[in-house]
Amino acid sequence: MNSYFQNKVVLITGASSGIGKALAMGMLQQGAKVAICGRNPTSLDIVAAEINNKSLICIQADVSQEADCAKFVQTAFSHFGSIDILINNAGISMRALFQEVELEVIRQSMDINFWGTVYCCKFALPHILKSKGHIVGISSIAGYKGLPCRTGYSASKFAMQGFLESLRIEMLYQGVNVMWVSPGFVASNIRNTALNAQGKAQTETPLNEDKLMSADTCARIIMKSIEQRKRSLLMDKQGWLTVWVNRFFPNYADRQVYKHFANEPDSPLNKIKTIS
Ligand SMILES: NC(=O)c1ccc[n+]([C@@H]2O[C@H](COP(=O)([O-])OP(=O)(O)OC[C@H]3O[C@@H](n4cnc5c(N)ncnc54)[C@H](OP(=O)(O)O)[C@@H]3O)[C@@H](O)[C@H]2O)c1
Repeated sequence: MNSYFQNKVVLITGASSGIGKALAMGMLQQGAKVAICGRNPTSLDIVAAEINNKSLICIQADVSQEADCAKFVQTAFSHFGSIDILINNAGISMRALFQEVELEVIRQSMDINFWGTVYCCKFALPHILKSKGHIVGISSIAGYKGLPCRTGYSASKFAMQGFLESLRIEMLYQGVNVMWVSPGFVASNIRNTALNAQGKAQTETPLNEDKLMSADTCARIIMKSIEQRKRSLLMDKQGWLTVWVNRFFPNYADRQVYKHFANEPDSPLNKIKTIS
């Protein structure tokens, strides 16, 4: 039996690692033609060699740059001749108190996570309208609940969700499915590259990555949701509970979220405790 993804043309931003890479591999296994992008050409070369599939093209593009997004979409379209699915996955995180953070960190979070999504949607939409395909955003629980020390990250994911929801309603009768998914904690590079207050990668994760959901499992769940043309997806119990508790008991949710993040190793929140 043919897979839903057989011969579909899928564009995935930020897929040289983590969830994006797992999605690319999963889609290719199911017969899709896939274009991925990322900023670092060496990482893209490594992924291309590892995956070694003629249906994969890798394009160097920084999604915070409008021209790079246009180039990514145009190159993929010229190569494959159509676009069925755009997955806005490229993202960076941060970990710093707003009191201490350089504004550039917030700007970068918005430029990559929010503007990158807007640019890619703008350039891919005419093609996706023709194929009556899908636009997907990889959001986060941070797009439902502001998380401490992630002001820029939360802002970017709230903005992404608002943008995608508006777009979904605009296109309600045009056959395009718009969905965002909100993974919980997934093992990846995101916490190593998360920016600190000075805008440098923090280089180590505060979590035990081995205990988190694997990127492959996350990708499988996302693919199923695309096939089912869902509108949004909360991927684990912790995320679902956070959103539900926050809706009915927001003050309690604030305190629980604070406690959770204060318990992380080297949490910047603990600096506040020593001040007050
Ligand atoms: N892992 C989690 O726990 C988790 C939870 C919720 C949501 N998410 C979301 O899932 C998405 C994927 O994250 P991940 O966990 O798989 O992280 P990851 O392993 O760090 O992968 C991020 C990918 O995005 C690329 N990227 C970063 N900035 C880019 C830019 N400006 N232009 C193009 N590509 C860029 C990176 O490559 P280069 O650095 O070479 O550009 C890399 O390939 C993100 O949007 C993240 O917010 C992750």
